[in-house]
Amino acid sequence: MEKGKLAISFLLRSANLRERVKMRTGKINRLIKHFSRPGFLSQPSVAVSVLKAAPVLIPKLGQAESGSSGSQFSKTIALFGAVASGFLGCATIAYASDEAEHGLACPSYPWPHNGILSSYDHASVRRGHQVYQQVCSSCHSMSLISYRDLVGVAYSEEETKAMATEIEVVDGPSDEGETLTRPGKLSDCLPQPYANEQAARFANGGAYPPDLGLITKARHNGQNYVFALLTGYRDPPAGVTYNPYFPGGAIAMPKMLDDGAVEYEDGTPATEAQMGKDVVTFLSWAAEPEMEERKLANFSIMVFSRSNAMLRLEYMQMGFKWIFVLSLALLQAGYYRRTRWSVLRPHKVVLDVVK
Ligand code: HEC
Repeated sequence: MEKGKLAISFLLRSANLRERVKMRTGKINRLIKHFSRPGFLSQPSVAVSVLKAAPVLIPKLGQAESGSSGSQFSKTIALFGAVASGFLGCATIAYASDEAEHGLACPSYPWPHNGILSSYDHASVRRGHQVYQQVCSSCHSMSLISYRDLVGVAYSEEETKAMATEIEVVDGPSDEGETLTRPGKLSDCLPQPYANEQAARFANGGAYPPDLGLITKARHNGQNYVFALLTGYRDPPAGVTYNPYFPGGAIAMPKMLDDGAVEYEDGTPATEAQMGKDVVTFLSWAAEPEMEERKLANFSIMVFSRSNAMLRLEYMQMGFKWIFVLSLALLQAGYYRRTRWSVLRPHKVVLDVVK
């Protein structure tokens, strides 16, 4: 404190500086008036944290400066600091309560199919289907997907047919008017684990495992959320299954992905993250099977008719990137031309034929 006092009084010795400080104080005062005008601090928590912070900060700084002409200045600075810390405090409180209510904000993962012309990683879709079938399908339905959708995406036609015949489908009526069961066909949908919602809730302690067919579209930041959810289980605080990414934290779904939960036929090590990635890739495909065609179509629309506004924005961004990169290259070329290669330039070869 002594040192600070000395330094400040030394600085203030210069009259010129004092004038400048006064001007700044005026500005800061006006800023504070602006921030504290009625209505601006309408959120009670902001006002409370500002009021709490201000008396703690001001007397300390005020004491250090008492008697010197800088005290007004330092008080103002202190008040400004208090206002700022109040805002920050409020932001953290708001953020924390937001996390508890809406779940922890999940990171953005670099999905290989996110690029404007990238397709799905089909080996991953295939592995993801395996994870869904062996792990998730005992609780979650995917009623919008039929076996034939998988043909050419994750499996060959023969493989898919073989897979379909493994299920039993209730069909009918027969010629005698009776319902019958038959082996599945390509046109059948993936089987549902429960007969109805009541049965699903009854088996899951009252919670309903949602249909996963559109889940990456049905949740905010879908793919990142589902991946973070599946791989984000933490030790429960008190006997509940706890997942910070799930709104509220207490989730009725137990942790499903443990290393080695499935055995991949292509030999990929089935780690928790690998299975999470694969199943989310599969779910993304299921929610948007037409993505690849859409991207191609958009590309040709963009190239030939220039009408799609969103896509044009993406191309504009790409264009700006290129302009930036090329202007860097131009700067470098200019630099070399001016400095490094300048020795080569002034030589002018004149062929004087007459002399
Ligand atoms: C033992 C049954 C069970 C299995 C197996 C299971 N889940 Fe769930 N899942 C649930 C239940 C129950 C819920 C509802 C949770 C809640 O509302 O608290 C749920 C919810 C979800 C949700 C939605 C979370 C939300 O935001 O509402 C997703 C996504 C999900 N599960 C994905 C999966 C995936 C992917 C698998 C396979 C790796 C899987 N689940 C395996 C029971 C299961």
